[in-house]
Amino acid sequence: MNRRLEVPSAAVDEAFREHVLAGLAQRPRRLAPKYFYDGRGAALFEAICRSPEYYVTRVEKALLAALAPELVAFTGRHRVLVEPGSGSGEKVRLLADLLQPAVYVPVDLSPHYVSAAESGLARHCPWLPIRPICADFTQLTRLALPPGRRLVFFPGSTIGNLEPEEAAAFLAGLAVCAGPGGGLLIGVDLKKDRAVLEAAYNDAGGVTAAFNRNLLVRINRELGADFDPHAFDHHAFYDEARGRVEMHLVARTAQSVWCDGERFRFAAGETIHTENSYKYTVAEFEALAVRGGWRPRQVWCDPARLFSVHYLDVA
Ligand code: AVI
Repeated sequence: MNRRLEVPSAAVDEAFREHVLAGLAQRPRRLAPKYFYDGRGAALFEAICRSPEYYVTRVEKALLAALAPELVAFTGRHRVLVEPGSGSGEKVRLLADLLQPAVYVPVDLSPHYVSAAESGLARHCPWLPIRPICADFTQLTRLALPPGRRLVFFPGSTIGNLEPEEAAAFLAGLAVCAGPGGGLLIGVDLKKDRAVLEAAYNDAGGVTAAFNRNLLVRINRELGADFDPHAFDHHAFYDEARGRVEMHLVARTAQSVWCDGERFRFAAGETIHTENSYKYTVAEFEALAVRGGWRPRQVWCDPARLFSVHYLDVA
């Protein structure tokens, strides 16, 4: 078993610096959601997942636990199980006993997350070989993955954080990564009532707001900026026409901020767009996946049709 953690040295920090400087300079200002997940951001995300309003995690876990026996009939056992953006790898535990993977490969940009996935699984499934990789999951096709029939596991509706065109290209990359005979088990959040969606991204406990503002805290720490995170409001709303929840940080007053030697001036009410979370109908997601080279085989939804889990194989 190879338990070496592959961490891509200083490359991530430089990419972060370039991304932030470019994102703050453009109009509208934008920062990518993948940078939410430093140590504190990861902990805040876990807290979001436990909040009563954020149904996504709760409903998906119940679906995974219920569908696991049926899934084995599609996938068989002893697959190479690859989880891009694995987070803490908690959901894979719901499948591992039944699927008996030959090896589990969690791939995450956050070293904090990959080691949490490794230690959590070592405790819960001590028999399971783990090959963690610390990398940006959108670079999956460039990584050396263990040989064998692969099952890609992509839960949590993380696909919704990509623009639809990026999502189609990413799904095509997953098909290459899964290879002939490969499969994909993916969680996709469904379109639904605005009130349910807006509550999920504006929890009463303010955890999502803290998660959003933590991006400014991270920029202050890593790039020596002087953002006052509380001078920005958390704003999240559902844009029904685009089928996405948008998250923004809105400047409460006119202010200027130094970041890495550059000065950025904000007008009162000006926003930094930090995340899109696209929602799909079952048919919309299947059409996207077909474009990416996948053949839909099965879909499971909860009775309230809040969330969907799809199994697809390489066409
Ligand atoms: C990780 N991702 C699918 C979450 C979502 O729902 O878009 C991130 C999140 N942002 C705010 N709350 C949760």
